Amino acid sequence: MKGLRFKFFGITLIFFAVFSSCTKEKVPMSTALICIDTVYFSTQIQPMIQQNCIGCHNIGGSLPTLTNYTEIASFATSILSSMNGSPQLMPLNGTPLNDTLIQQFSCWINQGKANN
Ligand code: HEC
Repeated sequence: MKGLRFKFFGITLIFFAVFSSCTKEKVPMSTALICIDTVYFSTQIQPMIQQNCIGCHNIGGSLPTLTNYTEIASFATSILSSMNGSPQLMPLNGTPLNDTLIQQFSCWINQGKANN
């Protein structure tokens, strides 16, 4: 009986350790940690859009044009969701941007979409 109770206690401890270590890792990753650094439009956001998006998004018409600050800032929310695959993954038919770039774009929005 004593042995059984001890095992149960041990298993509970392990569950707790695993569970709490998971939540500890996840919370700072998506919010505070990475957004501590200021994201710059001129050296990070615009180059990222130029390299990956304006091959298609430079002609107007029905596509959002993403060639300057005003356009990128006004489409920021849909740009972010498109990078995450909604409603369609952008760059269209291309390789998804890596998580770091998407996180940078998200931080840039959180920091007020500065034209810095
Ligand atoms: C190969 C061409 C191409 C590239 C590269 C491309 N797009 Fe698109 N994008 C399109 C087309 C075509 C549409 C319209 C899709 C539709 O309406 O069915 C579109 C639509 C969009 C839209 C409107 C909402 C949506 O998802 O339909 C956003 C926002 C967008 N693109 C952002 C981006 C961003 C950000 C990048 C770079 C990471 C990018 N696109 C790269 C072709 C492209």
